[in-house]
Amino acid sequence: MISSSSTQIHKNTQKLDLICASAPVIPVLTLENAEQAIGIGKALVNGGLIVLEITLRSAYGLTAIKQLKQALPNAIIGAGTVMTPQQYESCVEAGADFIVSPGFTTELLHYGSQSSVPLLPGIGSVSEAMQAMALGYRRFKLFPAAVVGGVDFLKAIGGPISELKFCPTGGIKPTNAADYLALHNVMCVGGTWLTPTDLVQQKNWQAIEVLAAQACALTAP
Ligand code: 3PG
Repeated sequence: MISSSSTQIHKNTQKLDLICASAPVIPVLTLENAEQAIGIGKALVNGGLIVLEITLRSAYGLTAIKQLKQALPNAIIGAGTVMTPQQYESCVEAGADFIVSPGFTTELLHYGSQSSVPLLPGIGSVSEAMQAMALGYRRFKLFPAAVVGGVDFLKAIGGPISELKFCPTGGIKPTNAADYLALHNVMCVGGTWLTPTDLVQQKNWQAIEVLAAQACALTAP
């Protein structure tokens, strides 16, 4: 899966653009078992959110990626909370379509720049953006978005470094998502609000589908 092509990172930017244009919201999911993975995955996709980020925060995460790749062939399945090249490799083997990290190490950026499965690295400052830009990265997760400056940060960085585009995550909710989506440097937003703990515990997949449909209809104000 590792390519020696120096143009790989540019191809990956194009892949990320297609992925992030597929839905306004990427649900960030921590799945504990097969029943949850299938119930939640189907509900979100039926609601129109076809791009999912399955985190490695649970022991079931990697299996959930494999399972959802088979169960939802029309969905785009990303792996989240990836922090090492070893985890990256495991997620690619599990079938992940893209990889998301909350921050980055130089090692992770190098690995991602050579993989045909694109990395959306997390950044939280202008200097971090510049470090990743030096390796060719142009698409980022802004994390934790609300803590590092949110909409104001994105407006400010959009002036001097206008070629960067972001998927802000961390503190995004239905009440502020549209403010982010209105920015020219925001491709989509990510968040956990689609799967509230009570609905997951009740296995209320129908209510999750309603939340997904509402999120899918989100546009800039
Ligand atoms: C993430 O990993 O992207 C965050 O945990 C999502 O943050 P949120 O819970 O504020 O949506």
